[in-house]
Amino acid sequence: MMTDLVVVGAGLFGLTVAERMARLHGVEVLVIDRRPHVGGNAYSAVEPETGIEVHQYGAHLFHTSNERVWEYVNRFTQFTSYVHRVYSTHRGEVYPLPINLGTINQFFRSALGPEAARALIREQAAELGGRTPRNLDEQGVNLIGRPLYEAFVRDYTAKQWQTDPRELPASIISRLPVRYTYDNRYFSDTYEGLPVDGYTAWLERMADHPKITVRLATDFFDPSQPVSKQAVVGQVPVVYTGPVDRYFDHSEGELSWRTLDFEQEVLDVGDFQGTSVMNYPDADVPYTRIHEFRHFHPERDYPDDRTVIMREFSRFAGRTDEPYYPVNTATDRERLAAYRRLVDEEPGVFFGGRLGTYQYLDMHMAIAAALSTVDNRLGPLFS
Ligand code: FAD
Ligand code: NA
Repeated sequence: MMTDLVVVGAGLFGLTVAERMARLHGVEVLVIDRRPHVGGNAYSAVEPETGIEVHQYGAHLFHTSNERVWEYVNRFTQFTSYVHRVYSTHRGEVYPLPINLGTINQFFRSALGPEAARALIREQAAELGGRTPRNLDEQGVNLIGRPLYEAFVRDYTAKQWQTDPRELPASIISRLPVRYTYDNRYFSDTYEGLPVDGYTAWLERMADHPKITVRLATDFFDPSQPVSKQAVVGQVPVVYTGPVDRYFDHSEGELSWRTLDFEQEVLDVGDFQGTSVMNYPDADVPYTRIHEFRHFHPERDYPDDRTVIMREFSRFAGRTDEPYYPVNTATDRERLAAYRRLVDEEPGVFFGGRLGTYQYLDMHMAIAAALSTVDNRLGPLFS
């Protein structure tokens, strides 16, 4: 094997590991990915008819308060001053999210100040009279009161999970933030923005190093290709960022995931919805959100008579679907514990990233986790 380290998965975890190991430790890294492109779920491509950059696996907004991560990502790209905001169309009316004083006053046709709004929500949230919520539905009511919960959360959650919230565990939602100001900035991190030249330019720059080789359309579990599990485990250290259950042939059972389906459309209008993300929380609309990509880059010279939108639908993932969000039921947690024992017994293989650890990670979290893996585990192997 003509390499010092194999990285399975060219997502942000794998790319960060590869870049740091090559640059800081002079290690020859071979990165493989099943997909025909680098970047994992952060990958984007230009829609050819319009030139508009489309995030292929759902809208990706970069944000972080981690100084080290911010300094690191700025080596590869500059970020625009984009600030994310989300709106929600409920029964033919548009409200600002996250639920804030503007949402509350619009919804209740009121002009409450922060204290009065707080008191109103507190009163509405007291419906259970101190009883512990038995399911997600009761939890929602307990957190923000029935009117706002039913309008903005209940049916949206039912669509995300294809399940009546009365059948879902209360633990899925631990908090529903309500802001008693008119601030509807979606993220509250120190740094936020979108890569000036797009995600793909950023991600490709991470892999652009003489000691890094990338092999695409290459599945780690395909024994006919030279960098398969059979060929490399035990021969050379491996960083594995694919699904942990798949690595062990699902021996402890399958972990459950939600997946998303996207329907992309080019429209002959300059602007479809006036904003980048519109939620659809009502039960009679089958999709959960519509993304309109031109609004992520108001600074770009995009056509003024065409636009690209993407409707997002959510459902449980089957084995051949892209796994997106861990479902994390009690059974999943038991299985994950069993897989963690197997992981500890797999010498020379380092499991990382969203799929390899079965947890939702934002981009900045995946990068931070990869930087620590390099500091604490991979770096020392080669020094
Ligand atoms: P991935 O990006 O999933 O990379 C794993 C890679 O491993 C994939 O490319 C996959 O093809 C490859 N792989 C798997 N199995 C094999 C195999 N057998 N052989 C070879 N290769 C394999 N984060 C944010 O910060 N902001 C956002 O707005 C945001 N929005 C998101 C929206 C969606 C729908 C999703 C799913 C995620 C979003 N994220 C967002 C999270 C972001 O995508 C993750 O932080 C990032 O994907 C984590 O990178 P990763 O390397 O762990 O995983
Ligand atoms: Na997102």
